[in-house]
Amino acid sequence: MSVVRFPKRVPLSIVPTQIHHLPRLTRLLGGPEIFMKRDDLTGCAMTGNKVRKLEFLCAEAIRRGATTLMTCGGVQSNHARTTAVAAARLGMKSILFLRGQCPQTTQGNLLLDRLVGSEIRFITTEQYKQADQLMKEEASRLKSIGEIGYAIPEGGSNALGCWGYVNAAKEIQKQESKLDKPFDYIVVAVGSGGTFGGLVAGRKMLGLRAEIIGFNVCDTAADFQQRVAGELAIFQQRWNHPVSCNPSELNIVDGYVGEGYGRDYPEELDAIQLLATVEGIVLEPVYTGKAFHGLLDQIRKGRFKKTDRILFCHTGGIFGLLDGQQRFHFRDQNQSI
Ligand SMILES: Cc1ncc(COP(=O)(O)O)c(C=O)c1O
Repeated sequence: MSVVRFPKRVPLSIVPTQIHHLPRLTRLLGGPEIFMKRDDLTGCAMTGNKVRKLEFLCAEAIRRGATTLMTCGGVQSNHARTTAVAAARLGMKSILFLRGQCPQTTQGNLLLDRLVGSEIRFITTEQYKQADQLMKEEASRLKSIGEIGYAIPEGGSNALGCWGYVNAAKEIQKQESKLDKPFDYIVVAVGSGGTFGGLVAGRKMLGLRAEIIGFNVCDTAADFQQRVAGELAIFQQRWNHPVSCNPSELNIVDGYVGEGYGRDYPEELDAIQLLATVEGIVLEPVYTGKAFHGLLDQIRKGRFKKTDRILFCHTGGIFGLLDGQQRFHFRDQNQSI
């Protein structure tokens, strides 16, 4: 196992997260062997993949003397919620730039944002395109009143944030050394690219055997190949680890976005219900549901060998499931006895 020196990290997550074998799902599919990395259990209000990235981003914020964390995302952004809770945990303020209108009811992630006292600015899709600029302007305003703002990009997906999943790759390597065979593939949802990018970097740095496969949940695979390759180039330049690669080397599978980001469709809701029913593990429709449906579909189409061992990284998002926007159909929905 290679020794990698990590940047400073402030511990916020409950790790290592467990890896579960999914025997009934595996049997139902007739192989390959499916496992799940439970990064939905990295915490409670701070749970999910984002907290791993924030451990490195917050360490830098503290080093710079930040008093306020700022970030952006959708109204139900898991990342924004995790940032807001992390700020409160670290005794900082938070300002969230959320794309969309203020909803009539405060549910899911937004409820937690408000509960931890985050200052929320609802912005239009047009304004959101300039979110980095808005945060820069906010940082200047904060400076003028003696505060120090630290801006975190969408999804925490810059080169520093990627270290969160280099750390997760290290964890996986340690855990698989205790299993009888290593994983052939690690599968993850791609929403802003940092989780996938971090796993790709970690694989290269640590010599992991498993190939990393991403399923994009918005935009296109080509967009993310460019974006992630760009962050990996910055990563290489900043920390001098040879992780840079050609965009085409990044294995991102397109075709499971549906009508767009955050818009669910029947096949993915079926996949979520299947997993929940046979294994008691709950995904959500914006990220993990689409990626998991993509994985099941690729398995059915014969992409993998029956003997392959696949680790699906469950990246959390449970609060988004609780915003009441999904179109699940339950067999006994309106039955009374
Ligand atoms: C629950 C969940 N899973 C997966 C992702 C995708 O991770 P990333 O943004 O690092 O691509 C996100 C955020 O975008 C998320 O909130």
